[in-house]
Amino acid sequence: DGSKLWGGRFVGDTDPIMEKFNASIAYDKRMWDADIRGSKAYAKALEKAKLVTAEEKDNILHGMDQIHDEWAKGVFEVKPGDEDIHTANERRLKELIGEPAGKLHTGRSRNDQVVTDMRLWLRDAISILKGNSLQLITTMVERAAVEIDVLFPGYTHMQRAQPIRWSHWILSHAVALSRDVEQLQEINRRVNVLPLGSGAIAGTPFNIDREMLRQELAFDDISINSMDATGQRDFIAEFLFWASLCLTHLSKMAEDLMLYSTKEFSFLTLSDAYSTGSSLMPQKKNADSLELIRSKAGRVFGRCAGFLMTLKGLPSTYNKDLQEDKEAMFDCFDTVHAVLQVTTGVVSTLKINPSVMEAALSPDMLATDLAYYLVRKGVPFRDAHGISGKAVFLAESKSIPLNQLTVEDLRTASPLFSSDVSAVWDYSSSVEQYSAPGGTAKSSVAAQVEYMRTWLKKQ
Ligand code: ARG
Repeated sequence: DGSKLWGGRFVGDTDPIMEKFNASIAYDKRMWDADIRGSKAYAKALEKAKLVTAEEKDNILHGMDQIHDEWAKGVFEVKPGDEDIHTANERRLKELIGEPAGKLHTGRSRNDQVVTDMRLWLRDAISILKGNSLQLITTMVERAAVEIDVLFPGYTHMQRAQPIRWSHWILSHAVALSRDVEQLQEINRRVNVLPLGSGAIAGTPFNIDREMLRQELAFDDISINSMDATGQRDFIAEFLFWASLCLTHLSKMAEDLMLYSTKEFSFLTLSDAYSTGSSLMPQKKNADSLELIRSKAGRVFGRCAGFLMTLKGLPSTYNKDLQEDKEAMFDCFDTVHAVLQVTTGVVSTLKINPSVMEAALSPDMLATDLAYYLVRKGVPFRDAHGISGKAVFLAESKSIPLNQLTVEDLRTASPLFSSDVSAVWDYSSSVEQYSAPGGTAKSSVAAQVEYMRTWLKKQ
């Protein structure tokens, strides 16, 4: 196996099954561009350290540009011995420029190379996901602004709780997503650190100017410790957790929308563009988009948990186990990237049914307001809660809605009820009580819209 990057000390050949088992080229070729960027910067650092001449450096750069072209055009030919993207690019460089190719890896290891590639790749991926998230949040906030007057039932424990604005519901999910964006930016600070120049474990014995590498590759910082830089994948774990939390948020929203789109609720209708039919039942229109959004959360959690298990108990620095980081990272990126775009499509095209939503409100949802009516007459809340509960019981035993109880009926529960209690039975004035910041009154929801618009402008 003398032909391999690491073949010098070997006499026996690799078993073909092992060869395949060991190879990562099938998926890490996605990092071809990052790998080339890293190598070009490294060639410049080698020249500065006088390990290659200016001419050799130029040859390396030209060769790398040609390899870039081949990948970009889709004509790069992966050969059987190409274990990973680093091996493939170096092998091709040798074919193109001959000897100086063998100097490119001076002082470098695939251990610092691979983690440099991954950080470059993830940095770009994070910026794409941030864009997708902001687009979704913008869609939601603008929808909330337009539909601010629509009221519908709010649920706790999946039971009818209090009347709320539909826009309040939308914004509750948009606000959660805004935290995801902030967390993504936080993570990016830790991703955007240069490991190159760490070698395999001990660092570099040559005059490799790491600060120059940092500038060339536009990293914010250079890594502090070569063992940490080559052996840790916490930045990947953080990203996988981010993806998990983001999809937790989106699966919750998808679940609500699925329920609201059922015939039984009929609060909204999904666009045909995001629904599918049944091969057997002609009437069916299924919310497959939402079901897939919900299910992708499970997929991403699996990637996160699986990779944490890979990391647990690993001894210090690079071990081949770490090669497992890439499929987890790519898959979580692809999944969240798709989910965010589909969610944007679903949310921007669904049609709500305001009259059905408002008709779904019922007087029992104002039992809290009935208690507040008494609170405003000086009754301690705990007692008011009990009195209102008695009224609910009375209405149920008479099989009438809560607002059909007469003042006399109500007076059997408390003498403080008088004819002005009729004002309680109004859904609009009910929601308008909740005007403190964060509440569901129109002014408060409008303030949330403004807050989110300002937040969006700052991103
Ligand atoms: N394909 C490897 C990976 O993804 C590259 C690093 C290999 N390093 C090594 N010492 N074998 O992790």
